Amino acid sequence: MSLLTFSCSSKAQKQTTDTGMQSDKKILVAYFSCTGTTEKIAGAIAQAVNGKLYRITPAVAYTSADLNWNNKASRSSVEMADDNSRPALGGETLNLKDYDVVFLGYPIWWDLCPRPVNTFLEKYDFSGKTVIPFATSGGSSITGSVKQLKALYPQIGWQAGRLCNGSAKQAGDWAKRVISVE
Ligand SMILES: Cc1cc2nc3c(=O)[nH]c(=O)nc-3n(C[C@H](O)[C@H](O)[C@H](O)COP(=O)(O)O)c2cc1C
Repeated sequence: MSLLTFSCSSKAQKQTTDTGMQSDKKILVAYFSCTGTTEKIAGAIAQAVNGKLYRITPAVAYTSADLNWNNKASRSSVEMADDNSRPALGGETLNLKDYDVVFLGYPIWWDLCPRPVNTFLEKYDFSGKTVIPFATSGGSSITGSVKQLKALYPQIGWQAGRLCNGSAKQAGDWAKRVISVE
């Protein structure tokens, strides 16, 4: 019973970001990352907006051989060459109903989001959710991936995304601005 009381009262509290800004929105920062770059940015965003960090975890982790884009037979090459590829996910089950706004982070793979991100978006009911994409890359823009995501999932309330190849602090500052006008 005391547990129940605690969970109700904590839900009723407003979220406070690290600048003291208050927001009634419950924020999820979901990200996919294989070599840690997007993970670092996601962590900074979650801290900046007081969001819950959630790692999109493939059932089978990607090895460095899997990530070799120079090899047409590597796992990532094969998956990205197939529009219908949806690699299985592991990790904890998410209660998406608990969140109003989702920051969605991923590395750019062949100008798109990696296929496990598609699996994630199709595993949960994102209808009507506000989703704000962010990405890291070796130089490509986020534009192609967002265009494809909007076309595949028109039921989602997509907000303008951002390529976060700068510092983690810049990413956090951007996320705070987005939330304050959202
Ligand atoms: C399979 C694969 C494909 C990639 N394709 C692109 C690409 O099209 N454009 C680009 O700029 N970077 C590309 N990259 C580089 C990644 O986007 C970049 O290193 C990213 O920051 C990695 O994020 P992570 O450490 O979170 O996995 C690719 C990387 C991999 C592994």
